[in-house]
Amino acid sequence: MTEKIKNIINKKNKTKIVCLTAYSKNQTSLIDKYCDIILVGDSLANVLYGMNNTHKINLDIMIRHAISVKSGINRSLLVVDMPKGTYSNIASAKKNAKLLISKTKCDAIKIESNNKNSHIIKGLVKANINVMGHIGYTPQYKSKFEVQGKSLKSQSNLIEEAKKIEQAGAFSIVLECITSNTSKEITKKLKIPTIGIGSSVFCDGQILVTDDLLGLSGFYPKFVKKYANISKIIKKAVNQFRKEVKTKKFPMKKNYY
Ligand code: KIV
Repeated sequence: MTEKIKNIINKKNKTKIVCLTAYSKNQTSLIDKYCDIILVGDSLANVLYGMNNTHKINLDIMIRHAISVKSGINRSLLVVDMPKGTYSNIASAKKNAKLLISKTKCDAIKIESNNKNSHIIKGLVKANINVMGHIGYTPQYKSKFEVQGKSLKSQSNLIEEAKKIEQAGAFSIVLECITSNTSKEITKKLKIPTIGIGSSVFCDGQILVTDDLLGLSGFYPKFVKKYANISKIIKKAVNQFRKEVKTKKFPMKKNYY
């Protein structure tokens, strides 16, 4: 385990962990200073590529974006999502994770849980690969959005799933859209940090999709807080450009040769 990973684990019960997604160098260089972890999430399928889900994103696309993000990182831990279908068994998980790490120099990979793949995490950790788990609403495995952990049964299943992932050697775990009671229980029972998205203040850290919090994606469910409205700023600037082109105010002499 690297010092950077140990530093993340050591934040549990001391300070909240700040995580955001990034898909490019420019975006990363703006947010890196404020983050502990930057995730190249497969949410780029929806956010950048306009797909309905994350199922068709392949390893090559993740590698390209992760290389771009890596070139903008100075301090944050870089985690990259393994796309659906790239970790169906230990051998393919190892082969694909090693390729991802060697091409991008990321610090860790994230895999979504289907409650049957903790042995994959174990295999990856044994091969010295740092793994972040992901439970609750896991878009690679669930077709319909549903808040998780509402019933006692669902709560105890999620607690067991989280423990299995910890025992397999993951260094942290994303809790996506899990009720506050359940995420509080999971966070209490684990030694590794939990990173919440739509899963309450009781988690050890929080993650959001950067494009959502900036008001760029047009996707604003309850768990997203829009901290800025960049869309409005872009529209205003582009409209001004259009007007100046039409009225021949742009380019001015100083803008051409
Ligand atoms: O793909 C992603 O961006 C994610 C986060 C929302 C946790 O998995």
